[in-house]
Amino acid sequence: MDTSQGSKVVLVTGASSGIGEACAELLSVRKHVVYGTSRRPPEKPPVGYRMLALDVTQEDSVRRAVAELLEREGRIDVVVNNAGHALAGALEDTSVEEAWRQLDTNVLGVLRVCKAVLPHMRERRSGRIINIGSLGGVVGLPFQGLYSASKFALEGLTESLRQEVEAFGIQASLVEPGDVRTRLTDNRVRAEGSRDGSAYREPFEKVLAIIEKEEREGVPAEAVARKVLEVMEAREPDVRYSVGKLSQRAAVVAKALLPARTFEGLLMSMFGLKRR
Ligand SMILES: NC(=O)c1ccc[n+]([C@@H]2O[C@H](COP(=O)([O-])OP(=O)(O)OC[C@H]3O[C@@H](n4cnc5c(N)ncnc54)[C@H](OP(=O)(O)O)[C@@H]3O)[C@@H](O)[C@H]2O)c1
Repeated sequence: MDTSQGSKVVLVTGASSGIGEACAELLSVRKHVVYGTSRRPPEKPPVGYRMLALDVTQEDSVRRAVAELLEREGRIDVVVNNAGHALAGALEDTSVEEAWRQLDTNVLGVLRVCKAVLPHMRERRSGRIINIGSLGGVVGLPFQGLYSASKFALEGLTESLRQEVEAFGIQASLVEPGDVRTRLTDNRVRAEGSRDGSAYREPFEKVLAIIEKEEREGVPAEAVARKVLEVMEAREPDVRYSVGKLSQRAAVVAKALLPARTFEGLLMSMFGLKRR
């Protein structure tokens, strides 16, 4: 699909705030026909794009939103799988139910949306899917194990998807942000087991405070939206695109170049964690 020309019909999941909202705003300003989604009706309708009700954890809800969009516009050119949330806590403190909710939204949510749009894209032999991963999906972060697992899963899912859909004229890519200033920080869910009585309480609180500070000082959501636009307009989109502070993007290069234990030691010292 050549997305460099003309107005595209774009579906952006999780557009009620943060990165999704910034994407919906930027793409609509660039004259694309944008549909954002939220689980709740917007308090006031956004300017320049429409909002649809969609909960990525509910297959019916995903199907209904995609059907409504297709009925209105007759096509979907681009999907930005952005909806997501963050769970924090030591792996030992995380219940299987909490883990399931994290993976259900961040991984199976993407699968549900892909399954809903792919038949239509295959039929048109054209389409582009942009999955919002994370640098936390390239580097495992302490006390964010399930969040990292969900974003690592998106790496594999997107690599596989690309190869499967290429013959149908469909391209899939990942955008991997570092820390971004959004509501994700305040919306973060803490594992129930990470409260008083957790053996990890002290390092968990210390690491989370560092992570939250970095997020609050992160790049604006508009920086990610600009990267999404770049991927949308690329003639031959690459597998992955990182976006964020140089120091955070450099971690990906360092992980590839340094011996694993050396890199791990650097990461741990960054988070104030000591080796035994
Ligand atoms: N902020 C960062 O530092 C950062 C870094 C790397 C990657 N990311 C990724 O960027 C994406 C967007 O996050 P953000 O930072 O912009 O956070 P945010 O401001 O909290 O926005 C999250 C969006 O996801 C939606 N959402 C959550 N659960 C959903 C569900 N079950 N079904 C449908 N929509 C759902 C929310 O919509 P409603 O609540 O209105 O339904 C909201 O619009 C996420 O995938 C996140 O992992 C963020």
